[in-house]
Amino acid sequence: VNILTRVDALRAALRGRRTACVPTMGNLHQGHLDLMRMARAHGDAVVATLFVNRLQFGAGEDFDRYPRTFDSDCDKLEQAGVEFLFAPADAELYPAPQSVFVEPPPVARQLEGEYRPGFFRGVATVVLKLFNCVQPQAAVFGKKDYQQLMVIRTMVRELNLPVDIVAAETARAPDGLALSSRNSYLTPEQRAMAPQLQARLREVRDRIVADSGNLLQIEDAAVSALTVSGWQPDYVAIRRQSDLQSPGAGDRDLVVLGAAKLGGTRLIDNLEFARSH
Ligand code: PAF
Repeated sequence: VNILTRVDALRAALRGRRTACVPTMGNLHQGHLDLMRMARAHGDAVVATLFVNRLQFGAGEDFDRYPRTFDSDCDKLEQAGVEFLFAPADAELYPAPQSVFVEPPPVARQLEGEYRPGFFRGVATVVLKLFNCVQPQAAVFGKKDYQQLMVIRTMVRELNLPVDIVAAETARAPDGLALSSRNSYLTPEQRAMAPQLQARLREVRDRIVADSGNLLQIEDAAVSALTVSGWQPDYVAIRRQSDLQSPGAGDRDLVVLGAAKLGGTRLIDNLEFARSH
């Protein structure tokens, strides 16, 4: 993999190429490699970006301890046949204190935006910067960060960015746990409990599909079940897929999103489904 740390060198290397980009914060796992594989179908050059973006971490969040595994990330990209890695230093992407920001759309105010103030502003700003550096025709994002994907799609549409946004399904461990760099924080006991988050979301889906209970009760039951098993849930929320608003009676395509802490580790997950009533 060709490692590029400077924007001018990156642009020179990509000139004339049809580029598909996979933005990451590193500590790559199979989920990221799935995104790289999808990217290959959308460009003749695939560029992974690796940048732990301070701007999207709040005070007291895990910026300092976020896993940084540069050498093994490069090995994985090499094995996956990814041609370019853009890995700028902080000073390359933020040469001066950032004073211009992307104001994220209203969909960003709830759920993750409520529990992580400033998160989506930081994500939207850095993704726009990365798009301006790489100038890709397409970019691939995972559905695990469901709300992030919606924020980025809205930004691309409303800022007229010439980038196709491609969504990839969440990669999971055999026991159902969504792959995430933050899983590496879990103790063995917490790792054994972690699939419960997806299991509770599946129960929510099953109850809605079976039409047993109203949506608020179903959300509350899932939050209680997580609490009883030793989690500190932030939310379990049933929303419509189209805009992440609360579903009306006629909405069929839904998604249930959950965020909960196990000890000091905050995990998120979601599950899309359709109801027929
Ligand atoms: O999803 C992530 O890893 C990050 O939020 C992203 C999109 C790379 C922006 O820093």
